[in-house]
Amino acid sequence: GGFLPFEHEPYFNFAQPDVAERQRAAFQQVREKYVGQRFPLYLGGERLEGEDTFAVHNPADTRETVWHFPKATPQQLEQAIDAAKLAFETWRFSDPLQRATIFKRAGELLRARRMEFNAVMTLENGKNWAEADGEVAESVDHFEVFARETLRWAAGKSVYPMPDEHVTTVYEPIGVVACISPWNFPSAIPLGMALGAIAAGNTVLWKPASETPLSSLLMVELLYEAGLPRNVIQFITGTDDVLGDPLVDHKDIRMVAFTGSREIGCRIFERAAKVQPGQKWLKRVMAEMGGKDPTVVCADADLDAAALGIVQSTFGYAGQKCSACSRVIAEDSIYDELLDKVRALAAEVKVGLPEDNAPLGPVISAGSAERIMKYVENGKKTARLVLGGERAELGECEGGYVQPTIFADVESTDPLFQEEIFGPVLAFSRARDWRHAIDLANDSDYGLTAAFYSRDPHKLAEARKLMQVGNLYLNRKCTGALSGTHAFGGYGMSGTNAKVGGPDYLFWFLQTKAIAQRY
Ligand code: SER
Repeated sequence: GGFLPFEHEPYFNFAQPDVAERQRAAFQQVREKYVGQRFPLYLGGERLEGEDTFAVHNPADTRETVWHFPKATPQQLEQAIDAAKLAFETWRFSDPLQRATIFKRAGELLRARRMEFNAVMTLENGKNWAEADGEVAESVDHFEVFARETLRWAAGKSVYPMPDEHVTTVYEPIGVVACISPWNFPSAIPLGMALGAIAAGNTVLWKPASETPLSSLLMVELLYEAGLPRNVIQFITGTDDVLGDPLVDHKDIRMVAFTGSREIGCRIFERAAKVQPGQKWLKRVMAEMGGKDPTVVCADADLDAAALGIVQSTFGYAGQKCSACSRVIAEDSIYDELLDKVRALAAEVKVGLPEDNAPLGPVISAGSAERIMKYVENGKKTARLVLGGERAELGECEGGYVQPTIFADVESTDPLFQEEIFGPVLAFSRARDWRHAIDLANDSDYGLTAAFYSRDPHKLAEARKLMQVGNLYLNRKCTGALSGTHAFGGYGMSGTNAKVGGPDYLFWFLQTKAIAQRY
């Protein structure tokens, strides 16, 4: 056995005219191939067209309907769970090498179609080219990382031996895993959860966000093409009244793997705790939720590097990442200088169409823009607005465009400091000294990512110990975790700290059997 050293999938350099031209051509092809189409569900290996469908809109201009997906019925949900249960009886004994081989093959297939997947994602969730490309490249990495992790966990682990017993510790799959995923990372996030389940030998019921089902469906079809038995994943789209509580509550669901809002994550955690009639296990819940991620800047830091990292991690994908920076906590002596640098850079973050690769595109929906603007309007009364603070207009386009917005002198009790806004809104807060800055950074229900900028080895060492987050980045930005390298998941109300892409992730999807045999 053994693997070659792992290399992350490199990003496309869209500054090269020929690369940009290929991405533009991919948009053209995706529009011809997919726009206006009706897509299916996959249940028990069957492709099912729905009679009742819902429309998916382009967030850049919601007048454009891009494609349609079925609204699954309650009967189809039952059918999907039954199919997953049945498939588990075979798949749980599948050869780990076969699973790894399928993932490797799927990674190769995706590598050849990255620009197509980028274009689909942009049309569904408004990511610009670079953001979509980052996520699709992460998905390629996931295939490779999970191939390796499958084999690593299949090897079991050693225990302290007994002279007269042969003892092994093996990991076995658990059952049907429901994967419920968000629109902001519609390929990499559900893929991580589904590959975790499948790598372990479980079967999956994959319920993508209704805003972004095609980015997910294409991943499922890619896995089928790579040789995954089609009944291992049930792909099901529709409304929350059918696929929300009834799915989570179902007695045959063994585990719910969820990524999304704190509100829904807490709801799932609570509902899944109830043992239903006929249910023979305690459900496992993986719930990865929000963030209110701080960047701490010490007086001795490289302020230009910090400002750049702050602007990239705050305004990338309009701040709609759980990992996005939304608070800057700066030492008093450099606070004004840093604020000036960040404001100057953020003012260059121009609003435009994601399909043109504009730095700042729309938020996911009009409703989301309204919610963000409520925070902004309130912030105008409680803090000092230094940039933006208004909606942005983009010609005729109907989309949730919001200007890059910065508030200064935000108190730690302010909603701007405490609540996840999920938009291009940044709060600056002043700290007396670097130690106070760490306290302020930790003053949050959440604990997902944080960045910390300093050149002082002592401060860096203290930050490593004291910062209460699952992903701590020293002297770099707080977004862009890489699969296999930066195990991703938070502390506190950011969730269960499952750490996708990390060395312990598969354990979540497994149960452990100790077997002792006397000869
Ligand atoms: N993994 C993403 C990041 O690190 C967020 O989900 O930015």
